[in-house]
Amino acid sequence: MLREALRIGSRRSYSYKSVRRPNLNVAAVSKANSVKPKQEQSNTLEDAAGHGISRGNLTKQLTAKMLATGPITVAEYMREVLTNPQSGYYMHRDVFGREGDFITSPEISQIFGELVGIWLLAEWQKLGSPSPFQLVELGPGRGTLARDVLKVLTKFKAGADFTMHMVEISPYLSQAQAQRFCYKHETVPEEAQLPHYQVGTTATGVQAFWHRHLEDVPPGFSLVLAHEFFDALPVHKLQLVNGQWLEVLIDVPRTQETETKNADFSYVLPKSQTPVSRLFKPVPQETRSCLEYSLETERHVGLLADRLERQGGIALIMDYGHLGDKTDTFRAFKQHALHEPLLAPGTADLTADVDFRHIKHVVETHNQVHCCGPVQQGDFLSRMQGELRLEQLLANALPENQDIIRSGYKMLTDANQMGSRYKFLAMFPGVMAEHLKKYPVAGFS
Ligand SMILES: C[S@@+](CC[C@H](N)C(=O)[O-])C[C@H]1O[C@@H](n2cnc3c(N)ncnc32)[C@H](O)[C@@H]1O
Repeated sequence: MLREALRIGSRRSYSYKSVRRPNLNVAAVSKANSVKPKQEQSNTLEDAAGHGISRGNLTKQLTAKMLATGPITVAEYMREVLTNPQSGYYMHRDVFGREGDFITSPEISQIFGELVGIWLLAEWQKLGSPSPFQLVELGPGRGTLARDVLKVLTKFKAGADFTMHMVEISPYLSQAQAQRFCYKHETVPEEAQLPHYQVGTTATGVQAFWHRHLEDVPPGFSLVLAHEFFDALPVHKLQLVNGQWLEVLIDVPRTQETETKNADFSYVLPKSQTPVSRLFKPVPQETRSCLEYSLETERHVGLLADRLERQGGIALIMDYGHLGDKTDTFRAFKQHALHEPLLAPGTADLTADVDFRHIKHVVETHNQVHCCGPVQQGDFLSRMQGELRLEQLLANALPENQDIIRSGYKMLTDANQMGSRYKFLAMFPGVMAEHLKKYPVAGFS
């Protein structure tokens, strides 16, 4: 299937033409990379949508809240900073690419989305090509991955019917996504009280729907993608003190001692437990005394597992992360450099590495879901014949684009760049476990 798909791709290269992706010679970095913090340059956020968000709005709101009700959790801080409807980081502008704050794999090379599309198709066929199905993406960003996967599905789907379901919280990005892969789209009025807030139609007639929450995606056999979605979900920071888990909180600097020059807020450790630190149950093999715990990740993974178990489907989680061994990964990115997370909230991206061991633990407590991986991105792409696809693209590319295409693929796969920090984890209905042992999952072994 794989080789066949890649061969057909090369014969009909017009639909796989090598598009010019960002110039990788500029200092564009993925969020897994660590680069020195940049000097704060301006007090005003350049807002593409013209919302005039000033750097101080969120700082003032959060300060008022902390003064009124006390310190907040890191998770609450992260949620407010990223998705506050008025001034949240993701809500009203494009944050990707050279002009933005970071770059992601689908934006670097079309090979990424094409191989993910071929993987989905191959595994869907292995499950008996159920039709109709839903292509679901969590946090689709600019819609580039969805567009590249759509190209593959449209080309090879062999008569299946499918609809697209984007789970996106940002009104600005949902528009950008629709513009990327729909020929027409419209906003659904709130009064309609539908589970989607935007609808669109692709050039080949596929219906696309936008939902604010995963729960709003209709039931049905689903192929689910999540690329750099889980790293944007809020984390709680926990610390083991005298045998008891305590939660690190964020507060306004209340005394001169705690006042931090380069931040608007500071971390504090309360003496008593918070609801989350009281209820937190570490995995049995936990050895860390300081860790990040994402309730939101747990909730989303639980929902995905339920969905696969009840309605069937496949989920592929792709993100930077660790296997339960990192302690402190909460950080901010601004203009392709690390930034102080407690400074000028709303002007920089906040993120934390995904704890894949925790995700697996959650999935495995659902007996009826079978998990594969995580494997490293570099291994996945090369097992999916990424080099072969690279050769095809180079053969058809203009000479001036060849270096960009080559360096893009290298950036995705090189262990010193994105090849090892980024990982892939797949979930299948548990009933498929025996079948998948007989016919191993592509890219994972
Ligand atoms: C880091 S970006 C990744 C974008 C894209 N997948 C890519 O790799 O280029 C995170 C995406 O998740 C969306 N997002 C963040 N938190 C969300 C939430 N709680 N619910 C739905 N979407 C969310 C953001 O608006 C954005 O589209």
